[in-house]
Amino acid sequence: MEKEYQEAAVARVEDLANGDMKQVKVGDTDVLLVRLPDHFYALGAKCTHYGAPLVKGVLHESRVICPWHHSCFDVRSGRHLEPPGCDGLPTFAVRTEGDDVVVRVPKPAPQEVVAEMAQQKSDQPVHVVLGGGAAGAYAAEAIREGGFTGRVVLVSKEEQLPYDRPKASKQYLQGAADDNAMPLRSPEFYRQHDIELMLGKEVTEVDVVQKEIKFTNGESLRYDGIVMCTGGKVQTLPVPGSDLKNVFTLRSWQDSKAIREAAQQAKRAVVIGASFIGLEGAAGLQKHGCAVTVVAPEEVPFGKVWGDAVGKWIQGLHEQKGVTFQLGAKVKALKGTSQVEGVVLESGETLPADLVLVGIGVKPNTDFIKGVDKADDGGLIASNYLKVTNGCYAAGDIVQFPFRDSHARIEHWRVACQQGRVAGHNLAGKKEAYTAVPFFWTAQQGTNIRYVGHVKDYDVTFHDGNVGDESFLVYYVKDGALKAVLGVNRDPDVDAIEELMRLNKVPSATELQGPIDWIDRLHRLSQEDNQRHFAHH
Ligand SMILES: Cc1cc2nc3c(=O)[nH]c(=O)nc-3n(C[C@H](O)[C@H](O)[C@H](O)COP(=O)(O)OP(=O)(O)OC[C@H]3O[C@@H](n4cnc5c(N)ncnc54)[C@H](O)[C@@H]3O)c2cc1C
Ligand code: FES
Repeated sequence: MEKEYQEAAVARVEDLANGDMKQVKVGDTDVLLVRLPDHFYALGAKCTHYGAPLVKGVLHESRVICPWHHSCFDVRSGRHLEPPGCDGLPTFAVRTEGDDVVVRVPKPAPQEVVAEMAQQKSDQPVHVVLGGGAAGAYAAEAIREGGFTGRVVLVSKEEQLPYDRPKASKQYLQGAADDNAMPLRSPEFYRQHDIELMLGKEVTEVDVVQKEIKFTNGESLRYDGIVMCTGGKVQTLPVPGSDLKNVFTLRSWQDSKAIREAAQQAKRAVVIGASFIGLEGAAGLQKHGCAVTVVAPEEVPFGKVWGDAVGKWIQGLHEQKGVTFQLGAKVKALKGTSQVEGVVLESGETLPADLVLVGIGVKPNTDFIKGVDKADDGGLIASNYLKVTNGCYAAGDIVQFPFRDSHARIEHWRVACQQGRVAGHNLAGKKEAYTAVPFFWTAQQGTNIRYVGHVKDYDVTFHDGNVGDESFLVYYVKDGALKAVLGVNRDPDVDAIEELMRLNKVPSATELQGPIDWIDRLHRLSQEDNQRHFAHH
């Protein structure tokens, strides 16, 4: 059957200057129209991750960066350049007719485009992806995208298909997302692309020298190549009573489901730990009607990572919604007969609780991996190709990778996705270095916080806007250079900052003390690039 199309004159040529984007409509389809020096381009207008309007993001050369979580697409091809989100965007035919820009869109218009992947031609060699989280999901697809035609096996101890873990402490926990919203892909997707799923299979040992993995049921699997993506192991509270009923940690979809169910019966919840999971969890528990108290040893939540001003502001966001805090407090025991009834503090005070959520961090889940060197924290040490040793790559929360002048291990969703993709490509025979700028987001009582770059123990901060204003940026500076930026309601600026960091074009610490127009700075860079491009030709 012949394909049907609809077309429309969507803009005048002079409506867009070089480097401009505009969202237009062809029939019911939202289209992103982009003008680059050589041509107009038209593509899907919504990010393939959570559907953000890309026109609100930032364009640099042919890369458009999503305003929400920094997925990145090539506007010429629609190709998905950076996660999150899995797929590329559809591209549509554009032509100019006199002064009009005309776009032609198929009926119905596709929403996303899956990258090309090789099919399996033989059951040898065998590449295993160990872990079905962020890094694992992207690694498995990347092995096929990289052209590998042997057998690809994705092993996970979780029963579920790879899923959207960040939702487990946000939309899903709050009851705003259901089970259907969690998986990243359907079972058919994995079948179509010859990615064999071994779900609900826990690995007890990986022998990297013998290239063999062993499962709890005594079975084993020999492999030729492996990407290790086993993520973080949640820390439990080393105090009496931590095994009581209704004491939870939150790492998985199943954890979130169990907490959500228990929260419906609970009245008083205590969250132990005032970091990302703890505070997102606190907000989630409130949605089910629980009165929530957060207990943590630090005096200010996030004080160490983001500074006291930001920490106190975040604490305030929660307090305004009725969360109470017991800071500078340590837990001595959890008490109760079969179910938890209270949290005993070292001060002697007991906080009544019928639900406790422990969010005190994770450690790399690597104890069962034998035959490789590990860092002090248990992370696997990898090269910038994410190679650990011959035939063995690592990605995500477990990997210590070269970062600036040393190594870092970063527990962010997007980083894990990016690394999974790089490791998978490399296992398939490519040679890609992992060079992305780290990016992280969190939602605190409905306020989205974006953080780009990475720094521990910064020396000084500068602010654009005051912390707590409707919108602001905080610049984290170390050794006289900008290392990380936190942004609230400044999405395009944070996009531009990431791009400038990627290109190594960030301003000096002195400049950061005055006003900076980040978008303009990036645009000027694009113009310089264009001038160079045309001078060259
Ligand atoms: C609730 C929650 C919310 C989060 N929210 C955000 C957010 O908003 N923004 C952000 O940037 N980051 C967020 N993060 C962090 C982010 O999810 C992680 O950095 C990311 O998931 C790491 O990916 P990974 O693939 O390394 O590990 P994981 O996603 O943890 O996946 C590890 C996988 O390995 C499997 N596995 C482990 N051991 C074995 C074994 N022995 N045998 C078989 N399989 C095994 C596990 O079952 C799992 O499938 C959140 C994390 C959590 C827990
Ligand atoms: S909506 Fe675009 S990256 Fe999340």
